Amino acid sequence: MQFTYLGHACFVVTVAGKKLLFDPFITPNELAQHIDVASVEADYILVSHGHADHVADLVTIAQRTKAKVIASWEVAEWAQKQGVSDVHPMNIGGSWQFSFGAVKCVIAQHSSGLPDGSYGGNPMGFIVTTSEGNFYYSGDTALTLDMQLIPSWAKLDYAILPIGDNFTMDVNDAIRAAEFVDCHNVIGVHYDTFGYIKIDKAAAQQRFQQKKIQLLLPAIGETITL
Ligand code: NI
Ligand code: MN
Repeated sequence: MQFTYLGHACFVVTVAGKKLLFDPFITPNELAQHIDVASVEADYILVSHGHADHVADLVTIAQRTKAKVIASWEVAEWAQKQGVSDVHPMNIGGSWQFSFGAVKCVIAQHSSGLPDGSYGGNPMGFIVTTSEGNFYYSGDTALTLDMQLIPSWAKLDYAILPIGDNFTMDVNDAIRAAEFVDCHNVIGVHYDTFGYIKIDKAAAQQRFQQKKIQLLLPAIGETITL
């Protein structure tokens, strides 16, 4: 598996020969101006919820790449109305086998309105299980006891968690989330993009280290092998 960070909570996981793009938000991100949105590849686009900082580039990338969009029923319906042709609607609790592996949708404690004000359903996290390894992307969420169920569904190799505070978990809650999901390799997202979520990265990594959990913070545009 490879993980390419595209800034904020946007990243590509390359697994089983497929490119899975998550929460496309590049064009409006001042920190990601060196990323060429027109060259981002995707076979699938997974959308955790409807907020603008997760769907800003969804329609243009989906139309160009013809990627299949995996999202809640409501976000998928909205995407279709915007001109996205290939969608796979899901909802919390459900799982589906795709060409790269299985996706199970799990609870995220957040909200999910779409940019035009339409209802986005419930926000979700994703557990992705593949022949090359398993990972969990929590989406925007608070720490929640529901995360304790996750080890019963998958032995995780990596967890991708928000750490920026204000809208989501902070570093301390993300550490507890990593413990809940029983995963000691964390990739931090949803930090530094705007004023409300700026963090001290070195301090964050130190706090994770104290709990014997690895916190990876790849640079925007960087690809790491998992
Ligand atoms: Ni959000
Ligand atoms: Mn967000």
